[in-house]
Amino acid sequence: MLRLFPDSARIDAGELHLGGVAASRLSAEYGTPLLVYCEETIRAQARAYREAAPDALIIYGTKAFANVALLRVLAEEGVGADVSTLGELAFAQEAGIPGERILFHGNNKSDEELRAAAEAGSTVVLDAEDEPARATSAGVRRALVRLTPGVEAVTHRSIQTAHDESKFGLSADGALRVVDEARTLGIDVAGVHFHVGSQLARVDESLLAVERLAGFCERARAELGWTPQVLDIGGGLGIRYTRDSDVPEIADFVRPLVSLLRERWPDSVQLVLEPGRSLVGRAGVTLYRIGVVKQSGGVSFVAIDGGMSDNPRPQLYDARYEALLANRADELADGVFRVAGKHCETGDVLIEAAELPHPKRDDLLAVPATGAYTLAMGSNYNGVPRPAVVLVRNGEARVIRRRETLGDLLRYDAGTLD
Ligand SMILES: Cc1ncc(COP(=O)(O)O)c(C=O)c1O
Repeated sequence: MLRLFPDSARIDAGELHLGGVAASRLSAEYGTPLLVYCEETIRAQARAYREAAPDALIIYGTKAFANVALLRVLAEEGVGADVSTLGELAFAQEAGIPGERILFHGNNKSDEELRAAAEAGSTVVLDAEDEPARATSAGVRRALVRLTPGVEAVTHRSIQTAHDESKFGLSADGALRVVDEARTLGIDVAGVHFHVGSQLARVDESLLAVERLAGFCERARAELGWTPQVLDIGGGLGIRYTRDSDVPEIADFVRPLVSLLRERWPDSVQLVLEPGRSLVGRAGVTLYRIGVVKQSGGVSFVAIDGGMSDNPRPQLYDARYEALLANRADELADGVFRVAGKHCETGDVLIEAAELPHPKRDDLLAVPATGAYTLAMGSNYNGVPRPAVVLVRNGEARVIRRRETLGDLLRYDAGTLD
């Protein structure tokens, strides 16, 4: 079970410790629910990417969790930022990430976003046939074009992004027209981008996408006399959410891709990788306080003080999780429990069948692998303020996102403005 947790996770005197800090201390000082990130794990993941692809530019998929402190940690490891909104750009800029390490994505960029991307000196990933003209007016100088390689990732359908019917990217014909027009308008079209999908557990479809990319580049050379200098193959590597899940290590996923790219492009091209989940997912653990424990219709329910407002992945992607009791971490499981959130939805179930020692009120539930696409997609459903986030390292914790208050919730209500 501990291998689902961050590198620094330890069980000491029956209690889970993260980054050298006891879970009970974290919950006492910062409250629950609490999202805890392990700095050591984030740095180790970034280094694993750098080792597997030493010449590549590594760009963090900020959508996994936009946070200035995390972006700064990643920037110290040489990682840039993939952003797709003004908000994500603001986080990247606040973290001091230079424009040349920022890629601006999006299937429907506004004029304001294109102008902001240009002012930031970032590279814009062109994703529509009307974008070259709009990007030129916005002052964009450098771009990639997003190709839809027509491959179907083996993952949840909501996070497949490279099949023919995807809303992202352009067909080969469309991408060639965009390259041609953008160059005519004076934009430096530096290269091509694709992103196969997310939570990938095998590399096959990504290798196929590289082959399709090679075919596209041959056409571009023959028809437009254009040769890309940058090949951005997106992110996508999955993480383990449960003990039975089988996901490759970073090196095993990245190395075959880099070898194929080097084989197809023996002349030097700049490679770009855009991992999100695999950089921060396993680094994050959510701590919840257990409240009601009850039997209903033959099911043993355990209710926690959060749920779909801090982690909607079970509802969005049928995501599965496992958990342990952080304060009784050395006790053996003696039952199967349904972990339900506190929200007014029957579907607000975080874990359908968690094996745990019989939980009691006030126990602490630790849910691993909750660092990506959890709080990033959180909400204030039921008027619940979003939890705090802390970063732990070497026995110390610091708040990197403060807990929302009821005042925060009321601030946006127009009835309280006068
Ligand atoms: C264009 C692009 N790049 C990178 C990512 C990051 O993907 P992941 O978190 O699966 O590595 C995404 C997320 O779907 C994306 O859309």
